[in-house]
Amino acid sequence: MPHVVVLTGAGISAESGISTFRDNNGLWASHRLEDVATPEAWERDPEGVLAFYNERRREVRRAQPNAAHEALARLERHNCRVSIVTQNIDDLHERAGSRDVLHLHGDIGKARSSVDPRLLYRLRGEETIEIGHMCDHNYQLRPHVVWFGEQVLLYDTACHIMADADWVLVIGTSLSVMPAAALLDEAPAHVTRMVIDPDAVALARGTDAIPMAGKASEIVPELVEHFIAHRVFEQPARGQ
Ligand code: OAD
Repeated sequence: MPHVVVLTGAGISAESGISTFRDNNGLWASHRLEDVATPEAWERDPEGVLAFYNERRREVRRAQPNAAHEALARLERHNCRVSIVTQNIDDLHERAGSRDVLHLHGDIGKARSSVDPRLLYRLRGEETIEIGHMCDHNYQLRPHVVWFGEQVLLYDTACHIMADADWVLVIGTSLSVMPAAALLDEAPAHVTRMVIDPDAVALARGTDAIPMAGKASEIVPELVEHFIAHRVFEQPARGQ
């Protein structure tokens, strides 16, 4: 069964109302990442860091999956295996119905101990993390997200997933953060790569990826319908 690996970034959730990072009105235009997304920021100003991520969690809870998330979930039912490797900390892929989702940068719906990363807690309803909220070993809780300078989660697993790809779709990411962007190099050289993003042409320049410029909620459903209508995954993938 052909294996479609999808690398997603903030752009796929933009039309669900979740802020991207590097667009003109993105989060890094209104916040300095050094103030909210580093271990040093946590040392200096834990209240400020918690407030930033409590707001991200509220934004995610208000949001609903859009047509791009839904189309990727639909693709799983059509003769292929779909693995989603996402840089996003939202759960919109899961809420749309995707079953195989790996979060490289964490999950805003979880808290973890600031001392023992294995102590993870699912946050419910409107729950926030505040100073004084402790883990079972009595250490302060922090968001289960990766900060700059910290190790990305499950990177080796993500490399194995990429190495097994027959098709790679890159959706809504500026590919400016390592090591996530380097994952693309792990896919076998012969696989078909497509980049779906308003900036797809620039992002694909100098690579053999096919640029599909536009919004994820428009392009991804069209692409999935094309794959299904033309039974693309009932034929051997290129290179097989
Ligand atoms: P960026 O904000 O860097 O890039 C968002 C991408 O989405 C850009 O290429 C936009 O052109 C594209 N985009 C915007 N609207 C879109 C739409 N409607 N449909 C499709 N694409 C659209 O976000 P990421 O690449 O995800 O990490 O950023 C990677 C990491 O940098 C994040 O996970 C976060 C951030 O700092 C951490 O916090 C560790």
